[in-house]
Amino acid sequence: MTINIVNYTKQSPRISNFSKERFVSKDYMEQEWDSVWRRQWLLAGLQSDVKKPGDYFVFDLGREQILVTQTAENDIQGFYNVCQHRGNTLITEERGHAINFRCAYHAWTYDINGDLSIVPYKERFTEGAPGQDRSLKKVHTECWNGFVFVCLAEEPMPFKAFLGPLDEILSPYQFDKMTLVQDQTVNLDCNWKAVIDNFGELYHVDFLHPQHKRMVDCCNDTVRLFEHGHTGVEVPGATVNPRFPVPDMPTDIQAMQLRSIGLDPADFKGRVMEVREAVQKQKRIMGHTQGMDYSALSDDQLSDVWQYNLFPNIVLSFTPEHCWILRPRPHPTDPSQCEFDKISLVRFADPALATSGDAIMSAGRHYQDQSAFVPENYARPERDVFHYEAIVSGAKSMTDTIDQDVELLAGVQRGMASSGFDTVFLNEDEMRVQHFHNTMNQLVR
Ligand code: FES
Ligand SMILES: [Fe+2]
Repeated sequence: MTINIVNYTKQSPRISNFSKERFVSKDYMEQEWDSVWRRQWLLAGLQSDVKKPGDYFVFDLGREQILVTQTAENDIQGFYNVCQHRGNTLITEERGHAINFRCAYHAWTYDINGDLSIVPYKERFTEGAPGQDRSLKKVHTECWNGFVFVCLAEEPMPFKAFLGPLDEILSPYQFDKMTLVQDQTVNLDCNWKAVIDNFGELYHVDFLHPQHKRMVDCCNDTVRLFEHGHTGVEVPGATVNPRFPVPDMPTDIQAMQLRSIGLDPADFKGRVMEVREAVQKQKRIMGHTQGMDYSALSDDQLSDVWQYNLFPNIVLSFTPEHCWILRPRPHPTDPSQCEFDKISLVRFADPALATSGDAIMSAGRHYQDQSAFVPENYARPERDVFHYEAIVSGAKSMTDTIDQDVELLAGVQRGMASSGFDTVFLNEDEMRVQHFHNTMNQLVR
């Protein structure tokens, strides 16, 4: 197995052996709240949910809720979702549009800038009417590539420093030009870090996801490690895993990929290892007329699947045509539970670029009304929330691959809690998991 490691960090990634405590202990969970969740930049949601002044969404994070809104000044701003009278939770809807934010308890009202604007019976406050010092409490907020980030620290690390080289590496994918097509949350019986660890290595792929050998080459991945705990892995796509016998004809998944860009799988009989390059070439030739701007991306990027993990809890898994935001969020009190979001974005064809009437390459064709372009009647999908047992029973799915991961994770948590298990023991293929936990060790002491 070849792993190309590109290390952008001076930190040692070596931490192959550590106690299970961080997955099961309430004390550790408390320390983690103060040292990680209250200090790091966190992806709260999508800019497309706060397009107009007064649009808002609520980001649920363990014991806290952050209300993110577009202000009258067209800024995107996060606030603690807490009324400053007696602390009632202010907004109970997950998302919407407001003229102002009115507390259901005693009707204190805040404008869309978070400023306190109405207090009933003001004169009853004999020590002085509540004023702007009782406005909503702000949190630091930044937008990047279509995503809204918040930080609960008083003095956060500068956002640019947090991203480091990731800004330049990821921006060409233009996630801000992708459209939300599916929004799912599954309740898992495991610690949030078990999810991150699962998406931090390819060691398990041959065994848990046997279908992957028909579409990606997990043997020739490139691993990247960055400052502040971020990691990346770049996996050759539109190909097969050369550790297994190479088939004579393109696999079903390669065949689908070839057809989707106007190539005939039959032409690749005996040439399966040439499919990847053919896909790259064809996308380069056809992209522009199809309304897909690939000009900022390399040939490898046109065929490959990349996954970048932004510390602490964001997994971005993407190609030029799609992006999954995978986000485990901690439970307010229980280290053995978390909520896990899968937010699916796709790139519809750009009608201003497309010169061919039928943009067959648009990933958007699989969603909404099968249109290659964002449909005129596009509706933001509602968030679907379910327990992982709905996946086990087959009632819900988050794609075969994620279902396979999700079905397994409760068993990992249960095993970790057992007296028969003490320490995690990691290998080189789990380098990104090592790097993540090394960063956790620097923050939580
Ligand atoms: S707690 Fe909100 S108005 Fe009283
Ligand atoms: Fe997996």
